[in-house]
Order: sequence, then structure tokens, then C-alpha cells
Amino acid sequence: MNRAVCPGSFDPITNGHLDIIERASRFFDEIVVAVGINVSKHRLFEPEERVDMIREATEGIPNISVETFQGLIVEFCTARGIKAIVKGLRAVSDFDYELQMGQMNRSLAAVDTLFMPADPHYSFLSSSLVKEVATYGGDVSGLVPEPVLRRLHERLDK
Ligand code: PNS
Repeated sequence: MNRAVCPGSFDPITNGHLDIIERASRFFDEIVVAVGINVSKHRLFEPEERVDMIREATEGIPNISVETFQGLIVEFCTARGIKAIVKGLRAVSDFDYELQMGQMNRSLAAVDTLFMPADPHYSFLSSSLVKEVATYGGDVSGLVPEPVLRRLHERLDK
């Protein structure tokens, strides 16, 4: 079976992530969405909530699974026999770091990174900006899937 991993923090998943996952799912038998839970960064949502939101947002796509991971993404891939990582690129500014990570991952293990251009509608979109705009009461309804919108309201409208 031809599988690929879409890794990220997904705190929370945005419509931009969802677009990449959905498009990637057409090229592979299965896409494993891997939610990074390394402890260093401050997060709004717990790993389980992030997984739940992704599962709900992707329930219409049959060949998606969602897991958490800790540590190196290449170890996650290697343990499952997966040889491809799919990443979205929003702009040239993403490319420098993503290229560096892709090359590092390739040097660590036989795992290649495939880059997919983001839909231009989402090139400004990030989880951080969604959280900031939502925190100050801005409308993010066109930017995140409904399960995320609902949880953002539950979390921030208190
Ligand atoms: O959504 P993000 O925060 O841009 O996702 C980044 C993520 C989690 C995909 C990346 O930081 C990652 O792969 N972390 C796992 C640790 C690792 O493998 N680091 C070495 C990468 S070269």
C-alpha cells in the first residue's frame, strides 16, 4: 500500500491544511495525518482535541487516518514503512525552512518530502493567525473547518 504522512502541529487544523490533505489523498492509498505533540511549544488545544478536530473535518475522505507522534517524524514514518512526507508550501518564505527539514529528514532516513503548492486562497493562512484573530473576536469562519470553529467559540467565548 502506497502511503504518505502529512505532519504538523495542527493547533488547530485550518482550511489550508485540509486542502493539502484532501489533494494529497488523491495520489496515495492512504494519508496518515501525524499530529506532533512535542512539548516545547505553547498550544491552545490538547493533542486529543487536535486529533478529534482533524478526524471530524476529514470524515468525508475515506483514506485518511490520524495519529499523534512524539520525537522525530522520520522515526514515525520508518516505524510504519512510510517513505513519503507531503508538505504544503504557502509562499517562498515557507520554502527555506521546509527544504532544510526535507533535506535533514532525507539524510536521517529513506524518507522523501513532496511539496504541494497551497491554494492561493489560503496562502496567508496559518494556525497562529487564526488563533490570534479568533482571540480578539474576529471572524475566522471561512478559514477553518466547522469542528474547529465550534471549539474555538467554546474555548474563547468564555
Ligand atoms: O505545523 P508545524 O508546527 O509547522 O509542524 C512542524 C512539524 C511538527 C511537522 C515539524 O516540526 C516536525 O516534523 N517535528 C518533529 C520533530 C522532527 O522530526 N524534527 C526534525 C525535522 S528536520
